Amino acid sequence: MTGLLDGHIALITGGGSGIGRGIALAFAEHGATIIAADINLAGAAETVAMIGGNAARAEALDVTDRAACNALAAKVKAEVGNLSILVNNAGIVRRATLDTENALNDWDDTIGINVNGVFNSTYAFLDQLKVTKGRIISIGSIQSFVHLRNCVAYTTSKHAVKGFTVALANELAPHGIRVNAIGPGVIRTPVSEKLIQSPERLAQLLTHIPMGRYGTPEDIAGPAVFLASDLARYVTGHTLVSDGGYLTV
Ligand SMILES: NC(=O)c1ccc[n+]([C@@H]2O[C@H](COP(=O)([O-])OP(=O)(O)OC[C@H]3O[C@@H](n4cnc5c(N)ncnc54)[C@H](O)[C@@H]3O)[C@@H](O)[C@H]2O)c1
Repeated sequence: MTGLLDGHIALITGGGSGIGRGIALAFAEHGATIIAADINLAGAAETVAMIGGNAARAEALDVTDRAACNALAAKVKAEVGNLSILVNNAGIVRRATLDTENALNDWDDTIGINVNGVFNSTYAFLDQLKVTKGRIISIGSIQSFVHLRNCVAYTTSKHAVKGFTVALANELAPHGIRVNAIGPGVIRTPVSEKLIQSPERLAQLLTHIPMGRYGTPEDIAGPAVFLASDLARYVTGHTLVSDGGYLTV
């Protein structure tokens, strides 16, 4: 443990799997108290068990439910303390074209979770983050910058995360709150498993990744620790890409 995040209270939405779990484990290792909040409570509980000790708790949360976000914020304040790090990580990907049967649902769900969910969690914890002069980190994507085929809603949602980050960083700087995002490339999690399991699709992807490998949640956790810590004390409004060079091709 380095103590980089000693004394911090961090909530990670979607902390029950993949990148959110990786960030929760890394934050705990660096000294933060963790709240893993996920619509899948069992997943969040598993993350907490992996952390061990008393410095973590699991909470059920659907980020599309504004009232639930507000209720969780009140609970955290009363039972743990004022939040100092919020990670807006919960997100979904639906890969399909707009002429498919589920296009309307895919659009509503993707924007509902990836955009409105980011807003709901941030809004719910804003008062606490003002008290702690906290940090907000949202998980965007390389699709905050470019698009991959067949996911118009997802690309739109991740461009929105980047815009939200810039606008909110500007608005909250006078309150001492830093707002940043991370743009992961192809990271091995349940979301990307199908892509990675297909030899043709993996080979095709790797031609676009100069470092020659897909990423892991740890490849995102490092940048998250940096952005959450005082090492990044003058960094705000930035989307830090961690993609093995994907965007250089
Ligand atoms: N894996 C990748 O290649 C990749 C690349 C770029 C960006 N991302 C982004 O990283 C983030 C995490 O993705 P991941 O790959 O770890 O996926 P994942 O499926 O492993 O984890 C997502 C977590 O979010 C939770 N979740 C889903 N809907 C929710 C809701 N309404 N409320 C609360 N929690 C909810 C899920 O239960 C799950 O635990 C997402 O925002 C995703 O868009 C992933």
